[in-house]
Amino acid sequence: MTVHFIGAGPGAPDLITLRGRDLIASSPVCLYAGSLVPEEILAHCPTDARIINTAPMDLDAIIAECKSAHVAGLDVARLHSGDLSVWSALGEQLRRLRAEDIPFSVTPGVPSFAAAAAALETELTLPGLAQSVILTRTPGRASSMPKGETLRNFAATGATLAIHLSIGNLDQVIADLTPGYGSSCPVAVVYRASWPDQQVIRTTLGDLKTSVTENITRTALILVGPALAGEGFEESCLYATEYDRRYRPQTADSPWSSWSHGDD
Ligand SMILES: C[S@@+](CC[C@H](N)C(=O)[O-])C[C@H]1O[C@@H](n2cnc3c(N)ncnc32)[C@H](O)[C@@H]1O
Repeated sequence: MTVHFIGAGPGAPDLITLRGRDLIASSPVCLYAGSLVPEEILAHCPTDARIINTAPMDLDAIIAECKSAHVAGLDVARLHSGDLSVWSALGEQLRRLRAEDIPFSVTPGVPSFAAAAAALETELTLPGLAQSVILTRTPGRASSMPKGETLRNFAATGATLAIHLSIGNLDQVIADLTPGYGSSCPVAVVYRASWPDQQVIRTTLGDLKTSVTENITRTALILVGPALAGEGFEESCLYATEYDRRYRPQTADSPWSSWSHGDD
């Protein structure tokens, strides 16, 4: 018996990995985070599966379900939105399962920041503009921020910011980022990326507050940084004609000319 933690993706039901889909199909129990996991994904569950929406449950109740399945020898598919590596409560669940000696596996999913970038048809790391992406949030009712992880500090890097869980904190986002990025800095807000009602807003820090429509109160990402302009960047060296690289050595004395496939 195993509890399979599965990243269910950002919303579109076909943005789940094949491994995730197959684990759902083979697990007689499914626990899903109901607020963001689309119902269509549950169609992969076996017809007689025990399917539970964990949105109204606390951690003790969720772990109790895992323990019952463990005693009965039944695999569990545990679904969270996006990927499990950020804001999924994976850490606290794994800690409890380890303490109970209950086996688990972890299957990644498409994170919402990647779905938002796809909706924008853009790359978040454009040469000369940004080479780092910071996944962050502002403090909320359930979570404070560690000292040092402030938007003001992140603004000092000039990197692309993907700000989660913060569409209700626009005033703070604008106040904290404007000194670093300037009010003309490009911003994109992506609401429900990959869902049928996806909405994309392109604006600037200075116009952010007035650009966000009233219906956007949750499930949105705020992307900030010069790369969001999608222009004014350099080409990378990767495909440059004269660039000497492992798969395309330029001369006989290139460090890559004697490279063999066992080296990497
Ligand atoms: C609890 S976090 C879950 C993050 C998730 N684990 C991930 O990999 O993206 C929820 C926040 O992620 C963002 N989010 C999740 N799904 C989204 C989507 N489809 N479109 C835009 N933002 C989304 C929003 O900022 C939302 O408030």
